[in-house]
Amino acid sequence: LADEKLSQTIRLFLNLAISIAGSIILYKIMPKFKDVFMRADLKGTDLSKKEKVQIPEAYGVICGAFFLIITFIFIPLRFYETLAFNKELSHHQFIEYLAALLSIACMIFLGFADDVLDLKWRDKLLLPTVASLPLLMVYFANINSTTIIVPYPLRPWLGYALNLGFLYYIYMGMLAVFCTNAINIYAGVNGIEAGQSLVIACSVLISNIIEFNGPFRDNHIFSMYLIIPFIACSFPLFIYNKYPSRVFVGDTFCYFAGMTFAVVGILGHFSKFLLLFFIPQIFNFLLSVPQLFKFIPCPRHRMPKYNPVTDLLEPSVVQFYDKDLSKLSKLIFKLFRMLKFIKVTEKIDEKNKKLVCYESSNFTIINFYLTIVGPTREGILTKQLLILQVVCCFIAFMIRYQLSKLFY
Ligand code: UD1
Ligand code: MG
Repeated sequence: LADEKLSQTIRLFLNLAISIAGSIILYKIMPKFKDVFMRADLKGTDLSKKEKVQIPEAYGVICGAFFLIITFIFIPLRFYETLAFNKELSHHQFIEYLAALLSIACMIFLGFADDVLDLKWRDKLLLPTVASLPLLMVYFANINSTTIIVPYPLRPWLGYALNLGFLYYIYMGMLAVFCTNAINIYAGVNGIEAGQSLVIACSVLISNIIEFNGPFRDNHIFSMYLIIPFIACSFPLFIYNKYPSRVFVGDTFCYFAGMTFAVVGILGHFSKFLLLFFIPQIFNFLLSVPQLFKFIPCPRHRMPKYNPVTDLLEPSVVQFYDKDLSKLSKLIFKLFRMLKFIKVTEKIDEKNKKLVCYESSNFTIINFYLTIVGPTREGILTKQLLILQVVCCFIAFMIRYQLSKLFY
């Protein structure tokens, strides 16, 4: 057993060493790809700048490729020795690792397809569900535990443990859809996509380290084998993507990051804890629901509006007529307005003093934040939003290790 622990530690260091090497190479070669991307028309306009310059987009694909290279090189280092000697246990872990990489690789491919082909919203929901199937099948074959522990207050009704059966698989499939899209729609200021992913990944790594000597050690080591390479690949990308952006990460990166989190959460058995790190993303998703599901019109871009005179970002707006809203839409609009999640101005016709249309800020956490703090410089806004992410992850740890004692 002591031997096993030692080799686990050695493997972790090997993983760390390859990851760091990969990270340095990635940092060095990233600028060299600029022209290649521009020539391939993989570029986007930085909309919140005075000069509307075009910069390469979908850089997440280089990041994803490096992640695969690092994890593939790690496969023989991790499994050769154990497969040769201790067959039973290792096959089990080997298959899990391969399925994890298959799902992530699949998602990188689909994300890149989205960047190149600009897929429809409907497909964006479908793709992660399909990409998570190999993962769910391995979960079914290897683990198939669909029982959850019921919190104290609900135990009189539900008992100590509850078997969710098939519903648990639906939950896991939805987790992949949520993680990928939640990161993609919390976007629009330089550095926020890569930044939030880095903060979440570091939080996952910290929780793995905390649980390292606990009863679920193997699960957390499994997670570390994936999350360390992920951090190593995202960090250089963040450097180039942070304000002022020299590259855009593209949907490739958002899907890659989201799927990596879903994979470690599912196969590492800490999906509920993982979701706690997504507090801002969950809030942003809930805020976005009226626009995502078309109760309120949703423009192509909901990112903050750049004011070239002041060089500050302001909440972006959407205009619509009262008569175009259904009864339910009106109710939702009223509720959001009452809760002050959106800032609304009413355009009144001067002549007959009648309401012409509403002008509402878009339903995102970034616009909501801007309505509270007022117009902000882009670099400062990203910094503040990332600090918010760090604070939320800290709260997640408090809930997990303090508050949950009351419920479990
Ligand atoms: C998501 C959001 C959209 C937001 C966009 C910004 C939803 C439903 N979709 O769309 O509202 O406007 O992300 O990323 O919420 N860009 C910048 N500066 C940045 C980041 C992006 O100007 O810091 C612009 C660039 O023109 C870039 C484009 O946004 O080319 C990328 O948008 P894309 O990732 O294709 O948008 P979606 O993910 O579809
Ligand atoms: Mg995007």
